Amino acid sequence: MYKVYGIVGYPVSHSLSPVMHNLAFRELGIKAVYGAFPVKPENLSLAIAGVRALGISGLSVTIPHKVEVMKYLDEVDYVAKEIGAVNTIINYDGKLFGTNTDWIGVIKSFEEAGIDLTGKRVVVLGAGGASLAIVYAMVKSGVKEVVIYNRTYEKAREVASRFGILAYKWEDLSTAYGDILINATSVGLKSFDSPVSKEIVSRFSVVMDSVYLPVETKLLSLAREENKIIIDGLKMLLYQGVEQFRLWTGINPPLDKMRDALYQEVLKMEAEFGLRKTDKTS
Ligand code: ATR
Repeated sequence: MYKVYGIVGYPVSHSLSPVMHNLAFRELGIKAVYGAFPVKPENLSLAIAGVRALGISGLSVTIPHKVEVMKYLDEVDYVAKEIGAVNTIINYDGKLFGTNTDWIGVIKSFEEAGIDLTGKRVVVLGAGGASLAIVYAMVKSGVKEVVIYNRTYEKAREVASRFGILAYKWEDLSTAYGDILINATSVGLKSFDSPVSKEIVSRFSVVMDSVYLPVETKLLSLAREENKIIIDGLKMLLYQGVEQFRLWTGINPPLDKMRDALYQEVLKMEAEFGLRKTDKTS
């Protein structure tokens, strides 16, 4: 019997998760399929009831449901509670268990780039859903200090007090400095905008973007021009998915093939959205 997995979010029509998970199922000869389920916020509890009724084996959870979904699950693990968001649901014989693999995606992205986080000063931009797992990953990695800047200062303060870090006002970004700069805002998504200037980028050694469409965002291209180490947002997506796959199946998925499939797919999307470098007007 085929097992069914999928992603719930709204919207999910451009999700890359089906590409990587279906490829892994095929490559490993696992009888399973992974679909994309667009679920409006007001229908989330019905969707989770549907997961139980249909016996769906596992779910990825994305924007805007990562926080709200927690109240519909039978168990949420310690990590997801600490982060305050669930991105993975596993159906254990009818009991729905929630966890979070996004922070592992962050840690593995830095590992892949050969960056030792110990003792580093990290600046995180943004205090929305994406920043929670990123800040958590940094706090757990033995960094010296994490600071957060957000356009809406109150949200920065909420995230900062949750994780015991410092919050700064967006207007103070001009004085930001450190070793590692991470963009967890949506600035640069499907556009050629950067949340910070090249001058600010030049004060860091490593720049990571959680935005992956385009793969090389304006921020990353500024960092490349300044010869910084860059980590694109597809890596976080890949590694959180790899960890999900392991949790669902107990099997290591084919990492390199999943990576190739993701990069190929995002290239197509860049073309679709007129984001290819050759299409750049600025
Ligand atoms: P996600 O779950 O992807 O993080 P989100 O919760 O809507 O999405 O958060 C988006 C983040 O990008 C927020 O930190 C948002 O700042 P606000 O809290 O002030 O809304 C930030 N953001 C979006 N557009 C921005 C812009 N033009 N300049 C600065 N920050 C921006």
